[in-house]
Amino acid sequence: MINAAQVGFGAAVLAGVVLAIIGHPGPKDLPPPAAAGAPTTTNAPQTFVLKSVSVELPTSDITFPGGAAADAINANCLSCHSASMVLTQPDLSKAAWAAEVDKMIHTFRAPIDQGNATAIVDYLSATKGAK
Ligand code: HEC
Repeated sequence: MINAAQVGFGAAVLAGVVLAIIGHPGPKDLPPPAAAGAPTTTNAPQTFVLKSVSVELPTSDITFPGGAAADAINANCLSCHSASMVLTQPDLSKAAWAAEVDKMIHTFRAPIDQGNATAIVDYLSATKGAK
């Protein structure tokens, strides 16, 4: 029979073996303490040079052109994607643009009232209507 004292002794021996294997985190694991007043940077030679670069970003149509005629589309169609995303689509018939605006309202939940939807379809068929 194994009694409680033997179990306790076994556990203590096992813990000792485990600790001996792991070892203890001695000072060897710590970075050497910085000497008082020592510079914080090294004197190693610089391996890179900073250069000024100029970057040409692609231009983008920020809003729909066309002044007052574009007010409705500018106010209702720019919250989810850019004007250029719409302007680079193929020319479509008025019915196709109406279906597109309808899709924005009913599929993608664009909050656009009927008056603005009509003005937007008129704008799209005037500027990007299929001839
Ligand atoms: C609530 C967000 C939202 C609004 C507002 C919105 N759209 Fe969209 N539109 C989308 C999403 C989503 C897509 C499809 C995914 C994509 O290409 O970004 C899309 C795609 C499009 C496309 C590409 C063709 C297609 O069917 O995928 C066109 C053209 C378009 N929208 C036009 C419009 C016009 C015109 C309006 C204003 C009436 C408008 N959108 C307003 C969300 C919106």
